[in-house]
Amino acid sequence: MIRTDKFISSQLADISRSEAKALIRSGRVAVDGVTVRSPDTQITPQSVVTLDGKRITYKEHIYIMLNKPSGYVCSTKREGGCPTVIELVPPYLKRKGLFAAGRLDKDTEGFVLITDDGELAHKMLAPSSHVPKTYFVRLEQPCGEDYEQRLAQGVDIGGEICRPAVFAADKFDEKNCTLIIHEGKFHQVKRMFASLGNKVVYLKRTAIGALVLDPNLPLGECLEIMHKDVDKLLCH
Ligand code: URA
Repeated sequence: MIRTDKFISSQLADISRSEAKALIRSGRVAVDGVTVRSPDTQITPQSVVTLDGKRITYKEHIYIMLNKPSGYVCSTKREGGCPTVIELVPPYLKRKGLFAAGRLDKDTEGFVLITDDGELAHKMLAPSSHVPKTYFVRLEQPCGEDYEQRLAQGVDIGGEICRPAVFAADKFDEKNCTLIIHEGKFHQVKRMFASLGNKVVYLKRTAIGALVLDPNLPLGECLEIMHKDVDKLLCH
């Protein structure tokens, strides 16, 4: 069971608990078709709650796929005037407590998971989880013949040895490749290629676990990940 004011404020980013109480007291909220006026009325997550006649469906957590553009930071606060990825979440997906689960650099594009589920984020990001992350990489110089083997062995990025990574050169363009890594060290992909004497000039994350970035999702746009797909984020 959950209080009606909590139900409403937890589902709507811009409604505080006291605003929810005021909305209820003013008669704008109905539960299962009946107007409620007491904010502490106990209801269930399955109750049909409406505000001004519009349904508010209850979801414990939300999972959002963002196709991050360059120029945005993955923190919850602006850094050096740089906008955050949270600012790209459209109002209908906004709610309190959203954060980016795992960071991409400011100039990296691609799949960022935005959620309010700390438990899932922990499972995904814990050093012991080894969830694969797939990147499309454009390099300054053509890929080396030995990259597959060296990356599979685990390269040294300034005293830190990386776990084995899966490298695949692009068949059509010798400067493009795909890399799958199983950890998330600071600037990891850029440092891995730097250790091979090359330079990343463009980086895009294309998958987390077994969940692939929707190829039809434009840069800067979000879509809600359906609950049946959430487990794919943790798949190896
Ligand atoms: N590796 C990097 O170097 N940068 C990113 O943004 C992600 C992985």
